[in-house]
Amino acid sequence: MQKILVPVDGSDSSERALDRASELAVALKAKLIFLYVANVNQLAVNSCLSAELLEAMNKAGDVILTHAEERVSESIETERVLETGSPASAIVDVAEECEADMIIMGSRGLGLVKGVLLGSVSQYVVENAKCAVMVVK
Ligand SMILES: Nc1ncnc2c1ncn2[C@@H]1O[C@H](COP(=O)(O)OP(=O)(O)OP(=O)(O)O)[C@@H](O)[C@H]1O
Ligand SMILES: [Mg+2]
Repeated sequence: MQKILVPVDGSDSSERALDRASELAVALKAKLIFLYVANVNQLAVNSCLSAELLEAMNKAGDVILTHAEERVSESIETERVLETGSPASAIVDVAEECEADMIIMGSRGLGLVKGVLLGSVSQYVVENAKCAVMVVK
């Protein structure tokens, strides 16, 4: 177990996933790759605001990724990736590209629907990733 991909969106569930990832990375001497995906699908592509919205989402991503680096143990080697697109498929693609041995993510994110165990992103990743996936409640 050398590389663990940790998709982060700033949600409570993603924070708990970060803590589990930190513990495992220390124990296994593994590297953590943090990933934030700016979801441009939510934006009206033809809107005059789309460039500004994308820039704002990238800035939010920078804050979330910096927070992730600061939250985990200092002894862990880390890398950060900021992608644009659909979070679900981008997480699966990045896991393959960086040859991650495992993905550790939250069960839910910032979505407003309550009472369902898995969000659409965690559900898609569990179903489609080629590597092991740990979903943290
Ligand atoms: N934009 C993103 N970038 C990186 N990781 C993400 C992103 N969105 C979600 N994740 C990861 O997926 C986990 C589950 O979030 P998900 O989006 O599936 O739940 P939700 O927001 O409650 O549901 P939905 O998005 O379907 O309304 C998060 O804890 C986080 O680890
Ligand atoms: Mg979500």
